[in-house]
Order: sequence, then C-alpha cells, then structure tokens
Amino acid sequence: MTELNRFIREMPKAELHLHIEGSLEPELMFALARRNNIEIPYRNVDEVRAAYQFSNLQDFLDIYYQGMSVLKTEQDFYDLTLAYIAHIHEQNVIHTEIFFDPQGHTDRGVPFATVINGISSALKDGREKFGITSKLIMCFLRHLSEEAAFETLKQALPHRDQIIAVGLDSSEVGFPPSKFERVFEKAKSEGFLAVAHAGEEGPPEYVYETLDLLKIDRLDHGNRALEDDALVKRLVESQMALTVCPLSNYKLAGVTDMRTHPIKRMLDLGLKATVNSDDPAYFGGYVNENYLAISESLNLTKDDILILARNGFEASFCTADEKQTMLAKLDAFGS
Ligand code: ADE
Ligand code: ZN
Repeated sequence: MTELNRFIREMPKAELHLHIEGSLEPELMFALARRNNIEIPYRNVDEVRAAYQFSNLQDFLDIYYQGMSVLKTEQDFYDLTLAYIAHIHEQNVIHTEIFFDPQGHTDRGVPFATVINGISSALKDGREKFGITSKLIMCFLRHLSEEAAFETLKQALPHRDQIIAVGLDSSEVGFPPSKFERVFEKAKSEGFLAVAHAGEEGPPEYVYETLDLLKIDRLDHGNRALEDDALVKRLVESQMALTVCPLSNYKLAGVTDMRTHPIKRMLDLGLKATVNSDDPAYFGGYVNENYLAISESLNLTKDDILILARNGFEASFCTADEKQTMLAKLDAFGS
C-alpha cells in the first residue's frame, strides 16, 4: 500500500451523502428476504452483484427500490444501519449524515415510525459502541407528488428531534426542484435544514432552483453546475458545500473515466467539495474507496486529500464546537 493510501484509510473523515437503503449489501438482502419470507429475483449473492450494471440513474433506482423491499421490521432497519456504522468505523469515519427515503417504505405499508425508530436506535448504539456521531436527513422522492411529500412531512413532525434536514432525491430529469418549493418552505418554517440532489443528471437550472426556491443549506452532487460559470461563481462566493460521490458518478455513467472526474477541477475553482459514497453497496465502495479512486485517478496530493476531509467536517450540520473538535482530530492526524 502506498503511503498516501494508508494516509487516506487512517484519516478521520466525515460522510455527508449516504442513502442508508443504498448500504444494503447483497448478503444482508438475502438474510432479510429469508427472515421476512420475501421473494427476490436472484438465486444467490453473485447474481445480485451481476445485476448491478447501470447505464444511468433510473437503471439503478429500479434495482434500488426493489432491493429495499426486504426491509419490513424495526429490527431490519436497525440491522441495516448498524452494519453501515460498523463498516465506516473500520474506515475511520467519525461523523456521518444519513439520508433515508421514508416513502420507499410507507408506500409498501411499513409505518414511518418503524423506519425511523430502527434507524435511530442503531445510530444511538453506534455512537455508544464506536463513538460515531450522526444526523438523519429525510428525503422526499421527487418522482412522487407534492401532496405525497407534504404527507411525509406531516408524518415526520412527531419525530422532528431525530431529523436535522429534509432532502430531495430519486429520478432527477423531468422532476425539477420547483415542484417542491412549498413543501421545502413548510419544512424550513418547522426548523429543518434543507439539502437537495441537483446537477447529478439534471441541468444547471435545477441547481439554481435549489438555491433560489428550496433555499438549500448544502448541495448534493452538483456536478453539472460546472457547465455554468455564473453558477460556479455563486457557489464559490457563498461557499455552498457540494457532496460529491465519485464512484456513484462513474457507475451511473455521469463520468465515463475516473481520470476525468471533476472533483479536482471543483477544488481548483474554489468550490467546497466533499467526498461521499452515495449507495456503497451498489457502487462498489464506501468512503475510503471513493477517496482512493480519485486520489489515484487524479493524482491528488496529501494537501488535496486534507482539504476534502476538512470540507467534510466544515460542511456538516454539527455545531461550531463539534466541528472544532473534529477538525482538531484531523489537524492532529495530518501534521
Ligand atoms: N437515491 C439513492 N441514490 C440516489 C442518487 N444517487 N440520486 C438520486 N436518488 C438517489
Ligand atoms: Zn444520493
């Protein structure tokens, strides 16, 4: 292992873009299917992995929604979440901000409380067992209606203390952020922060809408913002953080060769880019594999890696004191 690779693996890190349902490894998918008597269209784990060939976001989403159908009970959500926390503990991630997609479950008859209680109790145990801190972000599925998003927000209100922010995910093109302006306005008035996926496959206009209409506090992906110089300038000036997901971009064919991944260009432009795994069970790697992939393909320096890690802590939704504590750990490690 090169010295830089060891540095990446051992460095304290944050993750800010992780769909908990996208951390469902094929082995656990099989175990839960058996436990819950649910049919899945694969005979073994190898067949599942072989199905993970995507040529765009929608290809992936079809398989992702099917995969999550094995999640039924609070224990299932607990097991899923604790497996992710145990995995990132091995990777020296010390803070994580996790998306969940309640509509992917409530639409199958799983109560909202079952989902959030299972996830939350694993996060609590993960904190006690591994010292990993976390936040939860509730995403609205953008291919569903505004009315359904409002209903989901209503279901979240009794659990407000467990959710830091609302987000927007699922199929992007054809489902502009403007569709959710009113529900984000309501969520913000209830005290939630806001994030949204934009510019993953969708045009720069969608990124403008997340800023102007959804009033986001952090941008998920944002790759296509690079097509618009004025937008880049605005993102740089406001120091809006971007949660970039390199292996996801590659697997969903937004980037066809990792040597052309835009994250280095983002840093050079002054954008506050961070490194994240998105859906690690589907895209072939957790946070460390994402850092390693860009480090090798783009010849990143130790300073580039430290800037990316620093951005991760600074762009988190932690308090200033919590950020200082995590940044001090990074400084002690990096010096
Ligand atoms: N849901 C899970 N992963 C996603 C992604 N990369 N983009 C949009 N929605 C998602
Ligand atoms: Zn995502």
